[in-house]
Amino acid sequence: CGIIGILGLTPVAPLLVDGLKRLEYRGYDSAGIAVLEEGHLDRLRAEGKLRNLEAKLRANRKTGRSGIGHTRWATHGAPTERNAHPHATERVAVVHNGIIENFRELRLEMEAAGRVFSSDTDTEVVAHLVTLGLIDGLSPKEAVQATLKRLTGAFALAFLFEGEDDLVIGARRGSPLAIGWGSGEMFLGSDAIALGPFTDEITYLEDGDSVVLTRAGATIFDADDVEIARTPTTTAGSTYIADKGNHRHFMVKEIHEQPEVVGRTLGHYLDLVASAAKAVDDIDFSRIDRLSITACGTAYYAGFVAKYWFERIARLPVDIDIASEFRYREQPLSKDGLSIVISQSGETADTLASLRYAKGQGQRIAAIVNVRESTIAREADVMLPILAGPEIGVASTKAFTAQLAVLAAVAIAAGRARGTIDAAEEALLVRSFSEVPRLMHEALRLEGQIEALARDLAKVKHCLYLGRGTSYPIALEGALKLKEISYIHAEGYAAGELKHGPIALIDEEMPVVVIAPYDRVFEKTVSNMQEVAARGGRIILITDRKGSEAAAIDAVETLILPEMPAAVTPLVYAIPVQLLAYHTAVFMGTDVDQPRNLAKSVTVE
Ligand code: G6P
Repeated sequence: CGIIGILGLTPVAPLLVDGLKRLEYRGYDSAGIAVLEEGHLDRLRAEGKLRNLEAKLRANRKTGRSGIGHTRWATHGAPTERNAHPHATERVAVVHNGIIENFRELRLEMEAAGRVFSSDTDTEVVAHLVTLGLIDGLSPKEAVQATLKRLTGAFALAFLFEGEDDLVIGARRGSPLAIGWGSGEMFLGSDAIALGPFTDEITYLEDGDSVVLTRAGATIFDADDVEIARTPTTTAGSTYIADKGNHRHFMVKEIHEQPEVVGRTLGHYLDLVASAAKAVDDIDFSRIDRLSITACGTAYYAGFVAKYWFERIARLPVDIDIASEFRYREQPLSKDGLSIVISQSGETADTLASLRYAKGQGQRIAAIVNVRESTIAREADVMLPILAGPEIGVASTKAFTAQLAVLAAVAIAAGRARGTIDAAEEALLVRSFSEVPRLMHEALRLEGQIEALARDLAKVKHCLYLGRGTSYPIALEGALKLKEISYIHAEGYAAGELKHGPIALIDEEMPVVVIAPYDRVFEKTVSNMQEVAARGGRIILITDRKGSEAAAIDAVETLILPEMPAAVTPLVYAIPVQLLAYHTAVFMGTDVDQPRNLAKSVTVE
């Protein structure tokens, strides 16, 4: 899931591990490095967390000054040491992100040629292909080029060669890869964050590029193998990642950052002085007849909330889809439609494929992303950054609310452009959203009470989340957060749908979290809550003062938020559900920032 490569002036093994630590946030289940020890390839790999690799390194110091490293999120083959990267032959070591789709046929071919494999991965064929090229007398670069031509799939690769102390080769076909420029040293990494400790001068490779690194610099070649110049950028990656501050986990730090992040994002998209939404450059909403929103995971739930906003505020019909379904469903898309894709990382393979599908249908694409240099950002017609800063916790929190902030602002702009709201309504909406940072601060004050509830929640096996209207996607997101980080089985349901099935699950063992601000559907949700209470279910109600009084059900634990306009509730109610999942996971003792089996940036299907 993460790649690092260094041509250094001092022993690189500890530096490789430092770089990998900064990629930990992407999620992984094994790790490894390869360095050149007196010209010879030497590998060290370990299952599990980087501390296992570090322990091995302490017992077995390396002095080599050239090396590559990797954190792996298992796709082909279990997360064992033998499947950990780098994979190597007598001539070359390779690290790889993504998937080599045609590895089975290549492996059969290599085995027929007498090559012996020592792992179950798709990656190892790459090492053997390059090796055969080298044996045939090709130079390292030629051998890599010849190999790349044989591979299908989306991936990033980095190579280190036996006897070549001043050479690392990298290639990008789909998964991101960046060059870091040092003085007399050169670096390669999956992103600017990995390269943070070493340099802030970065060149992002374009899709199809490969690069030859020596200590003197980098030579980049495009997809046609023609030498090409790519402009370096100076990033804030190094200063940004920092540490957890006083917080125990990145996730809770990021939860607490939300008032600030959302304030910044809203300030960027709304004119708070004029109480108006800023027009979205290059999108004429008055000419758009349909919107399709596509994303994965938490970003999908942000899109789901936005469906309600766009339909209500801008009277624009919205189709909302999970990207892995959208990309293969072959639905017709209107020429006058707009596609919005939402992705924190901007690299999610399914979301990228959806973008390309919609583009192929002649739609304009707006991308809501956190990483501005990402593939999705670059392939979209219009890029709308969420300005959340790097999100390190695998379970998304501040990116979610920042995505909501952008979507809300765009929905208001769309409403104005389409004449479905007048200036007074627009001003009212904008003023309502400008209150969100303050309301989020208030929501954060519930943390002590939420922690007490979490102590009990940590004892259950299953949990249900209910909501109506925009609280329905928040229920879905609440359930996703809980299962992601506490491993408690949770489901989100539209409150009205409870009676059509899930009510069969209700007993004293089943807590039900009800998200119900006192809005126009509140009474309906309360009826559904009555159905739960009547069957002995334990209820945690997240509402406001009026809601708490109106609910009047005994045996309900209530979290009370301030009253607020209905349009803004999703942003504020997200906070208690995030905190509930977080504190439950802390009581469970799970790895909150890097939950098992999950990855932050999923560049595979
Ligand atoms: C992964 C992450 C989720 C995230 C989803 C979409 O599954 O674990 O937290 O919501 O990918 O990621 P994206 O970067 O496209 O928003």
